[in-house]
Amino acid sequence: MASDTVTMDKIVALTKRRGFIFPTGEIYGGLGSTYDFAHYGVLLKTNVKNAWWQAMLQERDDIVALDSAILQHPKTWEASGHLAGFTDPLVQCLGECKRRFRADHLDEGQTTCPVCGGELSEPRDFNLMFETTMGPVKDAGATVYLRPETAQGIFVNFKNVLQTSRKKPPFGIAQVGKSFRNEITPGNFVFRTREFEQMEMEFFVPPDEAPRWYDYWKQARFDWYVELGLRPDHLRLREHDPDELSHYSSGTADIEYLFPIGWSELEGIANRGTFDLTQHSQHSGEKLEYFDQQTKERYIPAVIEPAAGADRATLAFLVDAYDEEEVNGETRTVLKLHPRLAPVKAAVLPLVRKDGQPEVGREIVDLLRRHMQVEYDEGGSIGKRYRRQDEIGTPYCVTVDHQTLEDRTVTVRDRDTLAQERVAIDALPGHLAGRLAAPWRSPKLG
Ligand code: GAP
Repeated sequence: MASDTVTMDKIVALTKRRGFIFPTGEIYGGLGSTYDFAHYGVLLKTNVKNAWWQAMLQERDDIVALDSAILQHPKTWEASGHLAGFTDPLVQCLGECKRRFRADHLDEGQTTCPVCGGELSEPRDFNLMFETTMGPVKDAGATVYLRPETAQGIFVNFKNVLQTSRKKPPFGIAQVGKSFRNEITPGNFVFRTREFEQMEMEFFVPPDEAPRWYDYWKQARFDWYVELGLRPDHLRLREHDPDELSHYSSGTADIEYLFPIGWSELEGIANRGTFDLTQHSQHSGEKLEYFDQQTKERYIPAVIEPAAGADRATLAFLVDAYDEEEVNGETRTVLKLHPRLAPVKAAVLPLVRKDGQPEVGREIVDLLRRHMQVEYDEGGSIGKRYRRQDEIGTPYCVTVDHQTLEDRTVTVRDRDTLAQERVAIDALPGHLAGRLAAPWRSPKLG
């Protein structure tokens, strides 16, 4: 088990205090398990999503992007099996507290409420899709659903993408976007919410190559988290038992992270076989297959799907980065985020708010902001400002002092080692860019 000091409460407190994540509708008492991302949260989550896009698009040439609608044709959910089968078994307390629980999260055969001891109802299937009506007149409108996963928007566009992208299997379609699930028991901060962002990629392969690509994507996705700084001993791959498999899957593995709540799913990698394209083909009447000109073979590709959550990954990066350490007899809280993910790359801090230091500070911000996300801060003691930057995970603090006015050099303070180095202002963009691009491993690994 982790010997970390981090707890979910500390992450919730820090992200609220420093402006990463706020509870939704707080002035109205909050809307259970729903969160708004604030300035630093937006920057951090955007960096997570950009790192995902980079791995999927920029670093290879066999995957294309898609951004499909949240409201898909209702038949999509009939074909995918979501209308009939995207359910969780719900039981309700018939006693005092009337709470609802997922039957599969209770002990087997449990008949009494774990909170008040009241009798529990029989389980019933509860569909997790949010339903709404399309069109101005409620009763006359068509029932549509907020998508519970981004994947189906990819499958229904398979033919369009195949015709326009000049790709052939093996190739993938990647998508990032919001999904919605009316979870019975959301919780643990942004780990499980009813509105969340997914990063999904459907990789279409000749069916006989599916096992090989399944192994490939399990490893590639595991490595992605390690490259972005998650400690490998806090990550594991867990293959699902046959009785855990979804109806469409002939193999699924979870990448799990050791959250403060214990080992929990971060991302799922599934071998979906030909299930999805076959279903959409049958329900739409369109042939969703690939014709290989060379072999003259016609086949329905199998699908390997790495499906990640942007909010859940952001939470894992926050948890992994959180540290408290003794510095000069004081405890500092610091987010040791991978520099690529850090919301702000450099903060420019004049030592004093006089003697021309603020003016030079602003000049440096203008010099740097074309290259990276920077921030200027002149308020409060320098110690307080360093602490603030440590808590938002800023890798470098650039301090303007009296010497700067004499020789146009500044100090660059390293968040992780606390080492300070003197650098010429003109050389700063190159110096920082070089350090930000250098290989990085979590200092928590020792
Ligand atoms: N297309 C397959 C699919 O959606 P999933 O395992 O249900 O698979 C994939 O979801 C990922 O989406 C999960 O590993 C998780 O990171 C994220 N996710 C799923 N439900 C979530 C929720 N209620 N809140 C936050 N993230 C969620």
